[in-house]
Amino acid sequence: MSQTVIDLIKADHRDVEMIFEKLRREKENRPALVAELAAKFVAHARAEETKVYTELAKAKPSERGEIHHGVEEHHQAEELLAKLMDADPDKPEFLSALEALIKAVSHHVEEEESEILPAMSKAIPAAKLVKLGRVFSQAKADELATPPRPVGRTKQELLDRAKRKGVTGYSSMTKDELIDALGD
Ligand SMILES: [Fe+2]
Ligand SMILES: [Fe+2]
Repeated sequence: MSQTVIDLIKADHRDVEMIFEKLRREKENRPALVAELAAKFVAHARAEETKVYTELAKAKPSERGEIHHGVEEHHQAEELLAKLMDADPDKPEFLSALEALIKAVSHHVEEEESEILPAMSKAIPAAKLVKLGRVFSQAKADELATPPRPVGRTKQELLDRAKRKGVTGYSSMTKDELIDALGD
């Protein structure tokens, strides 16, 4: 049976929930799990924003407010993800960053699955939802081929890290220059 974009999105949500559970339990595996989570989360969010939410906005303009709210929640989650990426897996700050991220993502997934996805299945014909699934998958593949850059990473956090790493001239750099200089 053909999967629709809604099936693919929900499957990603269950996948991320499994990674969260592993992050709680598999202490020694945390570095790889954080990298996997970051890559998958950012690819999923960007593909939703550029290929899926946009189609819903076209098919049902009254959903634009809900969509805008969803994008904001992606950005908030990515700020928390950036904190988790910077946290030492052996320090208590790691678990508090993880729990804050889980709370934000669970809230967003709940809203997406109860508001945005049902609106899509009403407003967009099934055959188109199947085609959109392939487009969503391709967009994720393109994102996964480049290292994840959570959009919410704050400039102050980047400045602090550049200072710690001893990056020359960090104080006059733009956000993008800081990201490049930090190599992440
Ligand atoms: Fe999603
Ligand atoms: Fe989302």
